Amino acid sequence: MRVLLTGANGQLGQALMVAKPKPIELIACGRAELDLASPQACSEAVRFYRPDWVLNAGAYTAVDKAESEPELALAVNAGAPAALAEALAASGGRLLQVSTDFVFNGAQGFPYLPHQAVEPLGIYGISKARGEAAVLELLGPQLSCVLRTSWLYGPIGKNFCLTMLRLHGLKAESGEPLRVVADQVACPTHTAGLAEACWKVLANEVVGFQHWSDAGAASWYDFAVAIGELGVLAGLLERPALVVPITTAEYPTAARRPCYSLLDCSTSRAALGLEPVHWRDGLLKVLSCIGTSN
Ligand SMILES: NC(=O)c1ccc[n+]([C@@H]2O[C@H](COP(=O)([O-])OP(=O)(O)OC[C@H]3O[C@@H](n4cnc5c(N)ncnc54)[C@H](OP(=O)(O)O)[C@@H]3O)[C@@H](O)[C@H]2O)c1
Repeated sequence: MRVLLTGANGQLGQALMVAKPKPIELIACGRAELDLASPQACSEAVRFYRPDWVLNAGAYTAVDKAESEPELALAVNAGAPAALAEALAASGGRLLQVSTDFVFNGAQGFPYLPHQAVEPLGIYGISKARGEAAVLELLGPQLSCVLRTSWLYGPIGKNFCLTMLRLHGLKAESGEPLRVVADQVACPTHTAGLAEACWKVLANEVVGFQHWSDAGAASWYDFAVAIGELGVLAGLLERPALVVPITTAEYPTAARRPCYSLLDCSTSRAALGLEPVHWRDGLLKVLSCIGTSN
């Protein structure tokens, strides 16, 4: 099976390359090989490589910056999946489009099912929702899979876990508290677990809307506290900083975020034949991995 991977240098892209099953012929494209802001480049890549699947892990992921760069966010997150889907419809390939819990408004207060209506709150979520819709419209539900995930992090790249590790070190040193939002809830998801789920999508030919996250639920505050505790256990921190819960209103950001975006993954777990680890176990795995690479 030939797979074209986009966003190969991102945190998910890197995890996908590490977890690649042996028989797969992988064409890994970073930004230099395939500019997702160019629909023409997307179509040409599909026409040239004729992949059985495109695994679209590339995305414009700067949630706040997207508010001031809507054209670019829309080009990458909606235009690229549309162009890939259109080209794949012609070549006979399939598309795995990775998407986000930020397509939901967060107001319902219990986990979202894969087929629920979307209502994003910011440009990033809007752009990802448009990408989902384009894939479905141009390729159809039998030849595409939209796999949503939440709060993705891993041992490399730019993510909450690595930022908090750094801040725990700094704040513990200075004796200042670390103030973290406690009224937004979802589930942190480690990249290696999501990468395994992505490869299962291809192996099991899973299609339609799917959800994948680690198990459990947490606020950013809970996640930050656990990063401190487990960071000490993994030998990455001498001691954790004091973490103080604050409200979203006390930490204004350019983009609005859903306050409760837990994904109901039960049907997808069955379709993939995979059980996720609890998010705290996922966190310990990631921290141990950072520990050994230092
Ligand atoms: N991060 C999260 O918390 C989160 C949560 C839910 C869902 N997701 C989704 O999960 C997927 C993977 O996210 P991630 O966290 O791995 O993102 P990431 O680490 O930010 O990686 C995204 C990759 O896309 C590439 N990219 C951006 N613009 C591009 C362009 N114009 N042309 C080509 N490549 C471009 C980036 O290239 P450079 O390396 O050159 O910048 C980067 O390598 C995305 O679909 C994202 O929407 C992420």
